[in-house]
Amino acid sequence: MCGIIGYIGEKNCIPIIINGLKRLEYRGYDSAGLGFIHNGNAHVIKSKGKVSILEEKINSNQYFSSLGIGHTRWATHGIPNETNAHPHFNESKNLLIIHNGIIENYQTIKTSLSNIGYKFYTETDSEVIAHLIDSFIHKGNTLLKSVRLALSEVEGTYGLAVIYNGEADKIIAARKGSPLVIGVGDGENFIASDVSAILAHTKQVVYLEDGEIVEVYKDKFVTRTTSDEEIQKEIHEISLSLDEIDKGGYSHFMLKEIMEQPESVRNSMRGRLLIPEGSAKLGGLDNVIERLLNCKRIIISACGTSWHAGLVGEYMIEKYAQIPTEVEYASEFRYRNPIIHPDDAIFFISQSGETADTLAAMKEAKNKGALALGICNVVGSSIARESLGGVYIHAGPEIGVASTKAFTSQLVVLALIALLLSRKLGMKAEEGKCIAEHMDQLPDKIAQILKLNSEIEFIASEFQDAKNFLYLGRGFNFPVALEGALKLKEISYIHAEGYPAAEMKHGPIALIDENMPAIFIAPKDSTYDKIISNIQEVKARKGRIIAIASESDSEIDHLVDYTIKIPDTISMLMPILTVIPLQLLAYHIAVKKGLNVDQPRNLAKSVTVE
Ligand code: G6P
Repeated sequence: MCGIIGYIGEKNCIPIIINGLKRLEYRGYDSAGLGFIHNGNAHVIKSKGKVSILEEKINSNQYFSSLGIGHTRWATHGIPNETNAHPHFNESKNLLIIHNGIIENYQTIKTSLSNIGYKFYTETDSEVIAHLIDSFIHKGNTLLKSVRLALSEVEGTYGLAVIYNGEADKIIAARKGSPLVIGVGDGENFIASDVSAILAHTKQVVYLEDGEIVEVYKDKFVTRTTSDEEIQKEIHEISLSLDEIDKGGYSHFMLKEIMEQPESVRNSMRGRLLIPEGSAKLGGLDNVIERLLNCKRIIISACGTSWHAGLVGEYMIEKYAQIPTEVEYASEFRYRNPIIHPDDAIFFISQSGETADTLAAMKEAKNKGALALGICNVVGSSIARESLGGVYIHAGPEIGVASTKAFTSQLVVLALIALLLSRKLGMKAEEGKCIAEHMDQLPDKIAQILKLNSEIEFIASEFQDAKNFLYLGRGFNFPVALEGALKLKEISYIHAEGYPAAEMKHGPIALIDENMPAIFIAPKDSTYDKIISNIQEVKARKGRIIAIASESDSEIDHLVDYTIKIPDTISMLMPILTVIPLQLLAYHIAVKKGLNVDQPRNLAKSVTVE
């Protein structure tokens, strides 16, 4: 949610932190701030809005500091303004903290600190941490001990970084429930909530675990548990390049990520699709495969777009592997004391691997003895590390807040899982081979659909002023209707609803008139005739219709206002194709409306609070 970066070394930290914050902006961006030690004094510069506004406020030549921290904020407690932006000072303005997460008992701490004279200047929960640490320093403790004592009183989640005038040779950082990595450099070290912030400087990272506190010096780092035991941490080499997280010539990350899908889908299948055997090889499930095959039920739990992928996964697994499958919003699942048995297998899908509700649902499932598995994009993310097994989707970094390539890669991985389970549970090799061959053709078919970009841009220009949209699909394409509607509302702020097409007559049909565009996902599959009847019902009420249809279908053109023709595949894989025009349509409508496509208002890429 919020982004964190810190630097200690010989260089001027200010441009390093500003550039790191720009890389983190996609996580949360209502305000930003920078704090550093300069000539023995702690300084803070903050601003509401984008990092570029913060950058304008800083005259880099005015300061040279080799110790600093920076933060991009996504408001939870207190409105987004300059005061509430991080870093936060202690009373004597010689200690600075940045925090990602939520301090649940901040009111209690605030009251007890107020009673001993501390004053609070912001509406945030985070500010209490600065004063609490300060209160322990005043009792004669070192910074490290003060942070540890303060954190022992805190309930909630944190990715935290602290710098202090009195010990200006270190950053102290700690993690509980919010991601934090140490970047290991040569004579310089970093901390960050996300490797992308520090990738320009180092590829050597150390992942902090919950309950760990680290002292980061310019030439070493020392990690301890909250009970003060020193621990040796493994250094990981990151294989991502900076090019991979740049826009690569496209005007927006979202468009770049849509266009990357032939490659990202290919990467999700690479080395895993066994065409001659008609099966799949998923190394991350090897250790749990027997348990998975013997499970009585599969549950898929996720949020947002990942939840839509889960719905398609349910259809895939039930149709082919015949294992009863349910899909749950992680946020509901974790709170309703669900009935979970040790013979349940639960897949948690999360692009970021950091979504707080999904992570908490996974922990709940593990506590109840279920087989908890992850389907994640970000390697080394919290959900990936908490899981007992799982599959990375290998879609590459997704920066645009609206998820696109991660969705299609999640579907590919779910298809691989369905294929693997089905074959092990008795599907004939021939049928498996047919699925595998169709999967292998997906990248080329996606590339073919992407060539329709200008055609879709034209349709977008015809509909950019619509106030509402209805998305309708059946079977495997019902979740695509939900996802298409979500994409549109996320980035264009147009109200859109997705529905199973047959449900239309139970309510939404009342909305249809000449001002209500309806998008039908109507490829030639087993529900085609039914969906044509639904199209007729909308037409009879003067609704304007866009259809996503099979290239072999020439009849549908007479029934609808616009058709987007896509190649055929088997119904199970159709969502991987039908969603592409919907991503492009949402993108072009938002661009035409002059909106910030990559960073839509109020949304965050990674929702690390409940
Ligand atoms: C946020 C993002 C969505 C994403 C959802 C779940 O709401 O804006 O794009 O689908 O979180 O994220 P996850 O990382 O768990 O897939």
